[in-house]
Formats: sequence, structure tokens, C-alpha cells
Amino acid sequence: MDKLTIRDLDATGKRVFVRVDFNVPLEDGKITDDSRIQAALPTIKALIAQGAVVILASHLGRPDGKVQDSMRLRPVAERLSQLLKMPVPVTGDALGVGTEDAIKRLKPGEVILLENLRFHVEEEKNDPAFARALANYADVFVNDAFGTAHRAHASTEGIARLLPAYAGLLMEREIEVLGKLVSNPERPFAAIIGGAKVSGKIKVLRNLIDKVDVLVIGGGMANTFLLAQGKQVGKSLAEPDLIEDAKAIMESAAKHGTTVVLPTDVVVAKEVTRGSEYKTLPADKVPASWNIVDVGPATLEAMRKALEPARTVLWNGPLGVFEIPTFAVGTKEIARFLAGRAQSGATVVVGGGDSVAAVEQQGLADKMTHISTGGGASLEFLEGKELPGVAALLDRPKGSAAEARSN
Ligand code: 3PG
Repeated sequence: MDKLTIRDLDATGKRVFVRVDFNVPLEDGKITDDSRIQAALPTIKALIAQGAVVILASHLGRPDGKVQDSMRLRPVAERLSQLLKMPVPVTGDALGVGTEDAIKRLKPGEVILLENLRFHVEEEKNDPAFARALANYADVFVNDAFGTAHRAHASTEGIARLLPAYAGLLMEREIEVLGKLVSNPERPFAAIIGGAKVSGKIKVLRNLIDKVDVLVIGGGMANTFLLAQGKQVGKSLAEPDLIEDAKAIMESAAKHGTTVVLPTDVVVAKEVTRGSEYKTLPADKVPASWNIVDVGPATLEAMRKALEPARTVLWNGPLGVFEIPTFAVGTKEIARFLAGRAQSGATVVVGGGDSVAAVEQQGLADKMTHISTGGGASLEFLEGKELPGVAALLDRPKGSAAEARSN
């Protein structure tokens, strides 16, 4: 990694401002998935062990600069306290005299969590005065919020210009794992790209098409590719204005010798609702008034066959309407198959909310090589974009001993 990380930092006795991504799903005030909190623990524990004063900061949801009680970080602080087995108080506000005093009173090895940064409109505007106020709390900045690294906000980008800025251990792992995929994957390298729309992932497809040996396309986005093949998709979700883009992707694949696997049979439903009538049909026989909701068994078999030899697999996006259990078969089957491949030594990286949820629901997360904590951030990284939250961190000096160690 060409950025300095907390491995390069002696945090002993220092006040360290750590940007984490604790934007976790909540239902009735309860956290339904704490993986982002779990993923930040190695960095937090390493700083505690060094005797740093640890000031954690995150956003939760999109409160648009207003205090919203449903987006307070108290449930996160409670969960973190349990996981760290120590009290983690949460401030009433990210700014203010009370917060300044609470931070001043902290002793080495203690942790505090600032209230939701996005209660201040200045956070998303990357306001310099807000970034300065945050920077004043600390001697050093650590960014461990990979999931928010695609945002140039005060706590991810602005503050990094004001304090010595290091990557946390989660940030380091995400960049290393995803970076290896796009720069130097063990081959054959396969990508499974699913999800609702081509438009959200067209840049990822363009960036990956000359890097992968196999491209598997599923989910609603496959429908636009079926249209590009001259098939009819009935009432299915599709983006006819992107047919030319889909054709260009397939032409580029042919030029680079990339195998593309598209659905050849599909599950179709009268309505995209629970309990709707459904059946499996060849992909070129979709009736005008039906919807494609999942891949069929022949497609799944072809996908498995194409993926079997892969030494590296990237999976982003479900293969069907995963929220409705009857139409989640393809997504679940692929999750199980990939867990098996990872257990046999292939590198399997899963990113994107729904594919990660599919893996977690089946208790397969531990079996995968890496589950990315980034949704939008991992997509932008895979598009080949530089993430502002990463770009702002300190560069590793060329030829340094630390650089030699990290290579
Ligand atoms: C995410 O959940 O993808 C990150 O926390 C970023 O959230 P945002 O899309 O609201 O900026």
C-alpha cells in the first residue's frame, strides 16, 4: 500500500481522531448487522493497546444536517462497549464545549464516540472550519472508514489536510484486497456482477472487462444484455437506452477473449411480489406480461462450470429479486458455491449490500476470503477511481524501510 498506515505510527500518548464507518442498518433502534463495527475493532484495539486516546467519529444515515433522534449513535456506542468490554461514551454533539471537555478528560487507552457527524450540514460540504474544529481534538488522524472513502467530506478528506493522516487496518486490507483484484489477480479471474441496473455498474463493467477471464452477469441488469442479444424480456426491469452500452461490453469481451455468461433460462413471475405465480422458461421465451425474477437451473449450472477453474472471484450484486425468498435461489446457490471455492483455496471477494447480505444470511461470511465493508466505495474503487478519503492520506516515502517492509 502506498499510503502510511497505523503500523507506521507510534500512537503512544497521542490523541487520535479515527474516522470509522458505523453506518449500520437499524430496525426499531436495534442494529441488525454489526459487521461494520466488528470490522473496525482491529484498528481501535491496536490504538488502545498503544495507549492512545481514541476519538471515534462516524455518520449514520442521511440526516441532511439536522438532528434526527432515529439516527443517533447511541446503539452503536452500546454495541461497541460490549465488543470492546469497556465503556464507550457517546457525546451529545460532535461539536461544542461539552464535547471538548469530555475529550480533554480522556486518559490514554480510553475511547469516546462523537455523535453523528452528519447532524452538521458542514460535514458533507467538507467545510474547512468544521474540519478544523474536528482536527483540534487530536494530534493524528486515522481513516478506517473504507465504506465512506468515496466521499470528500470534512471528516474523511478535509481533516486529512490538517493532521498527519494514516490509514487504519480495515482501510489497508480493503485497498490491498480490492487493489490486487484490479492490478494483479491470480488467474483465471472471474467477476460475477448482478443487481438491478446496468446504469449503476456500467463503469465497473467497462473497467473490468479487459481484466477478467470470465464475466458472469445476472440480476435485473442481465435483462438489458438479453435485449442486446435480441431477446424479449416482457415486463422485466431493463434499461433499453443502455442496449448499445451492453453491446459494446460484449464486443469488448470478445476482443479480449473474455468469456461472458448470461442467463439462458430464467424464472419468470406474473408479479414481482411474494406468492406470485412463477415458472422457469428459456431466456428467449419470456412472455410479454411476465417478469424475469431469477436465473434458472441451466444458467446456474453454466455459471458454476465457468467459475469452477477460477483462482480469483469477485462477486457484486444478487442474481435475482433476492428480497423475495422464492426468487433468491440463484443468489443463494452462488453464495454456497463460492464459499466452497474459497474453502478449496480460491480467493473469493464479496462486495455490495445484497450479495453480502445473502452470504451473511446463510452463515457463509467466515468462509469467504474477504467481505468488503464498502458499497458505493468498493464500486468506485472497482471503476478505477481514486477515492478522495484515501488520496488525502500520507504517501509512503519512496524507498523507505517501511515501504520495503510492506512489499
Ligand atoms: C455506505 O453505507 O455506503 C456509506 O456509509 C456511505 O454512505 P452514504 O452513501 O450515505 O454517503
